[in-house]
Amino acid sequence: MGFKEEIKRRRTFGIISHPDAGKTTLTEKLLLFGGAIHVAGAVKSNKIKKTATSDFMEIERQRGISVATSVMGFEYKGHKVNILDTPGHQDFAEDTYRTLTACDSVIIVIDVAKGVEEQTRKLMKVCRMRKTPVIVFINKMDRLGKDAFDLLDEIEQELELSVNPLSWPINMGPDFKGVYNIYNRNLSLFTPATQTVEESIDFDDLSNPKLEEYIGEDAEVLREELDLVSGVYPEFDVQDYLDAKIAPVFFGSALNNFGVRELLDVFIKIAPSPLPCQTVERQIQPEEDKFSGFVFKIHANMDPNHRDRIAFVKIVSGTFKRNTPYLHVRNGKKLKFSSPTAFMAEKKSIVEEAFPGDIIGLHDTGNFKIGDTLTEGEKINFKGIPSFSPELFKYIENADPMKSKQLAKGIDQLMDEGVAQLFTSQFNGRKVIGTVGALQFEVIEYRLLHEYSASCRWEPIHLHKACWIKTEDEEQLKEFKKAKYQYMAKDKHGRDVFLADSGYMLQMAQSNYPNLEFHLHQNFKSDRIWL
Ligand code: G4P
Repeated sequence: MGFKEEIKRRRTFGIISHPDAGKTTLTEKLLLFGGAIHVAGAVKSNKIKKTATSDFMEIERQRGISVATSVMGFEYKGHKVNILDTPGHQDFAEDTYRTLTACDSVIIVIDVAKGVEEQTRKLMKVCRMRKTPVIVFINKMDRLGKDAFDLLDEIEQELELSVNPLSWPINMGPDFKGVYNIYNRNLSLFTPATQTVEESIDFDDLSNPKLEEYIGEDAEVLREELDLVSGVYPEFDVQDYLDAKIAPVFFGSALNNFGVRELLDVFIKIAPSPLPCQTVERQIQPEEDKFSGFVFKIHANMDPNHRDRIAFVKIVSGTFKRNTPYLHVRNGKKLKFSSPTAFMAEKKSIVEEAFPGDIIGLHDTGNFKIGDTLTEGEKINFKGIPSFSPELFKYIENADPMKSKQLAKGIDQLMDEGVAQLFTSQFNGRKVIGTVGALQFEVIEYRLLHEYSASCRWEPIHLHKACWIKTEDEEQLKEFKKAKYQYMAKDKHGRDVFLADSGYMLQMAQSNYPNLEFHLHQNFKSDRIWL
């Protein structure tokens, strides 16, 4: 198969949802269709969310699985489908944001009873920013939930997303009869089952009285509702979906394996193959001959005897080849990889080559940071790997004076993985760790001990926000740093960070020093604080 065909047949996407909407179940059913797994219940990595916050041992135990399930590739009807796993637990949300940068499209799962929930809203914001094409799957139709029209309105309003139903439910809960597929014009009748695949019946002419034979008195309601649907929603235009202007919607029940196959069939037809990617310097087309890719995730090795890690690289252009020297743009060094890993189903295997859209795992001994670019020589830097804004802060102290080197190294490497962010106070030299979730502190403590034999202790610090400062006015910056020296810190890259202990303090700083910009993100791209 030619290079261009390889690109065209790839579909790299993520499934996102609020915890419990059914992401794991849907992933599992998609993998069953792809022949990637053979029994339901094989994908359990997301069950992490169900463990108590303090139960980190359990998380660690499951991390072994989640490395393998970080990417789940399978072949389906001539397409190479790559599902990128996104952690369900909200404390790991920034991991999900980063993974979204490697997705060419997204499926959002919504629970029919709960509608749009907090996490969905947040994740959709990232998709909107990145103009990622989105398909919505409304799940749990076997349970009583919201009226379909109301729910679609809610999605439009809450997610700021125009929708277009491509299937329509026939009743719900105990009376759920199935869906009418508007896109393929056929009828799928619901029978609760967990492993079987539903048959669909071609049904072009809805006025045909045979409809009553299948679904009884719901036939008339279906006709009326579909009339309304065609009045309210314009005809589906694939380009609008690809331009992220409209999101097709499907209804089904992942648990009952209902509506999943039709979702997958339409998905491979309409979802985008690998898209061009923007670098600071220029746009990169997947069809370009020369290889380029970026690191979107770094995962520590499970084996405590080996401190190496796996860097997950999304291939953007060209063909990646094993044992070929590639330029690590940030370091300016050439690196060769003798055992790049591809992820097919539950298995990892060494690959000779990989194509745009693929994700490969590279063994890393500490060279990589999230967002790093690899190329054949061109000095480009991929854009848009989000850094997160820390919300919780604690001082980290060495609890074992004999192991201070190990502690420093451990902290350094964990920060490169993007687990949290480190600030060094310019006032007292103490180290402050900032995270987005409470769980990260436990993760750090546990991993420092088990991977670096270092012990740490946490001490409270009262902080509101960490703000990176941007300005052209060096004089004012100098003045500010002098006045606020107690609150100034350096981040890992030596940049100035203002650790504000209250919203009021931040507000005062902003109004007293109008030439300074305060940013919640280190890359200054978003979330400028306007007061
Ligand atoms: P998540 O990854 O989005 O967090 O959700 P997950 O798939 O784990 O599903 C959450 C719960 O919802 C699970 O039940 C799952 O069985 C159930 N579920 C998923 N799809 C459907 C559906 O179509 N209909 C119904 N009725 N339930 C569905 P659980 O009891 O929390 O977990 P488990 O013990 O069954 O694994």
